[in-house]
This record gives sequence, structure tokens and C-alpha cells, in this order.
Amino acid sequence: MVLAALGLTGAGLTRPASPAVPVLVPTLRSLAAADGISFGAAVDVSALLGDPGYATQLGAQYDMVTPENVMKWMYTEPRPGVYDFRAADALVGFARAHGMKVRGHNLVWFEQNPVWLTRPTMTPGALAGALRRHITAEVGHFRGRISQWDVVNEAVDDDGALRRDVWSSALGSTYIAEAFRWAHAADPGAVLFYNDYGIDKPGPKADAVLALLTRLRREGSPVGGVGFELHLGSPADFDAGALAGMMARFAAVGLATAVTEMDVRLKPPAPAGALDAQAVDFAGALQDCRAQPSCHTFVSWGYTDLDSWIPGTFPGFGQALPFDAGLRPKPAAYALQSGLAGPRPRPPTGAARR
Ligand code: XIL
Repeated sequence: MVLAALGLTGAGLTRPASPAVPVLVPTLRSLAAADGISFGAAVDVSALLGDPGYATQLGAQYDMVTPENVMKWMYTEPRPGVYDFRAADALVGFARAHGMKVRGHNLVWFEQNPVWLTRPTMTPGALAGALRRHITAEVGHFRGRISQWDVVNEAVDDDGALRRDVWSSALGSTYIAEAFRWAHAADPGAVLFYNDYGIDKPGPKADAVLALLTRLRREGSPVGGVGFELHLGSPADFDAGALAGMMARFAAVGLATAVTEMDVRLKPPAPAGALDAQAVDFAGALQDCRAQPSCHTFVSWGYTDLDSWIPGTFPGFGQALPFDAGLRPKPAAYALQSGLAGPRPRPPTGAARR
């Protein structure tokens, strides 16, 4: 009882001592909290459960997590109506124990779906029913524990057309509004996002996504935010000012904005200059977010070079994240640290008036 009064609960006493990890102080999460930013990372749940160092540095530096994979359809509903939330529950439990928010990712996408969705028996009616049940079950399972959901992921193609996938081929664009409606009914407290890449600069795709979300908002859809992925090649495919401008255009139709999946891939072994250029990109994106009243969320796609999708997906590339494979902060981590501690940049010219 005395222990409980001191706030030392049984769970706290039995948890094993944290393994030593390289220190970064002040921590990114403490600076972000003081700044009103949720500072997050995508999490590989096997690393989280299998590597105490990974878990410790994550809990020390970040106050938001998103599952890199385990909330995707192929994992959560591998057979029709058979749900498996065990890995996702483990992540949500870790987040709760460490005072972190959770971004749910994702509910409707063209990739990482179970094979049963593409069987010939899946008529348009069957697909619509499967989508409604999936969203209702998954969002309902986590109700009250997810602050933001990526409801619709990458639905627009690079040329601005609706992506031709299992959903649009059967249902046209109608599934998008329905998905947001079903997600909102299952958890009215979560902010519902459309998430995509290639919308951080003006162009046909950014214009099409803006038009889509503008229409949904006008129709009263509960879509509440837009996520900017930012999987960058380096050097020089990122224009920080352009990102701020795009965030302002989405904010003008009432949407929250967020950096949701940032990484900056390099060619290992990266020389010091490349690591410094990467730091400039991370800091630039952070400052764009901080300059926008609509942006309170900054998430990288992983946090340590130990665990990243980059080497597997972009052969010859790696070292894409703020911490190295020894969990040591890289120049990008220090740039994020000083960015979070520094004064807030002004909104870009013109943005405030939109
Ligand atoms: C990636 C994961 O990082 C990989 O492990 C997986 O094999 C494929 O998906 N856009 C997204 C993310 O919205 O879900 C993707 O994650 C990366 C691109």
C-alpha cells in the first residue's frame, strides 16, 4: 500500500532493468512534448519484443508509435472473419506502459492484403461487406486507444488518377467515403487520416488528393487529416518550403497535417557529408511541420538503422533513420533535437492567409 501511494506499482518493480543504451539528452520526446508535437516512429514488433535495447531507446526518445506492419489486413484478418490482434495488442500495451500515443496504420490499401480478398467469389458486394466488417472489427477492437488512424492509404496514383486496385476496380471511388464513415462509427474519438506519398510538392497527384479530400469534407465526411509519407532519396529530392506550402493548402480545407513516414535513404557506407545532408532533410521537414498550426505529428518510418524496410526494398540503400544500428544518435537525431528546442519558424509567406 505504501508503495502504491508512492506510485511504485508492482508492474514497475518487476520490470527488468533497462539495458544501457546510448544517451541523447534532452530526449527528443521531452522536447517534443514541450513543443506540442507528437514525436513518433514506426515499430517493428519483433524487434520491440526481442531486443530490450531497441525497446528502451524507443521508449526514451519517442512518445508516439505506429506499427510498421502488424495492423495491416494480411496480419489482422488472415482468413475471412478470423482476426488476430496479438502483435498489435503488444505494441499498444507497450505504448500505454510508456505514455505514448498510437497511430493506427492502416485500414484500406492496395498492398499487404490477404489472398482471400482477390478470390473470384469476391464480387463488388462481397468486397464492400468485407471492408465494412474489417474496419468495424479492427477500429472497434482498439477503440479509445488510437489517437489517429490511417484509414485510406495511397489510393491515388502518381498521375493523379484513382489507383486501379482491388477496391477501385470493384467499387469505383465510393469505398473511400465509406471507409471513413465506418471508421468514425467504430471510434468517434480517433482522428481519421488519408495517407500518401508524393503529395509534398505541387503536381497532379497532390492536386488530385487535395481535390478528393476537399470534396469529402464538403460532403461532411469525417476525414480529419492528411499524412505526408516522405520516403526520400538523398540528396536533393526534398523541398522543405514546398512541404509547408502543401500543408497550408490542406489545412485550408480544415484538415490536420502530419509527417507520417519519414526516412532518407543513403548509400552505405555513407560519408559524413551524406549524413549531414540527411540531417538537413529531417530538420527541414520538422520545421515545416512546426511552422504549420495544422501539424502536431512527426513520425519517422522506423528509428534505428538496425530495423528499416529500406535495405530490403531499395537494394544498395540504407542508413535512412536518425539512430544508427548501435542505437547511437546520428547527425539527424541531433538536428531534430536542436530543431525541437529552437524557436518556431514562421508560416511560409501566404500560408497564413489561405
Ligand atoms: C512497408 C513496411 O515498412 C515493410 O516492412 C513492408 O514489407 C511493406 O510496407 N508506405 C506505407 C507503409 O504506407 O505501410 C509501407 O511499409 C511503406 C510505404
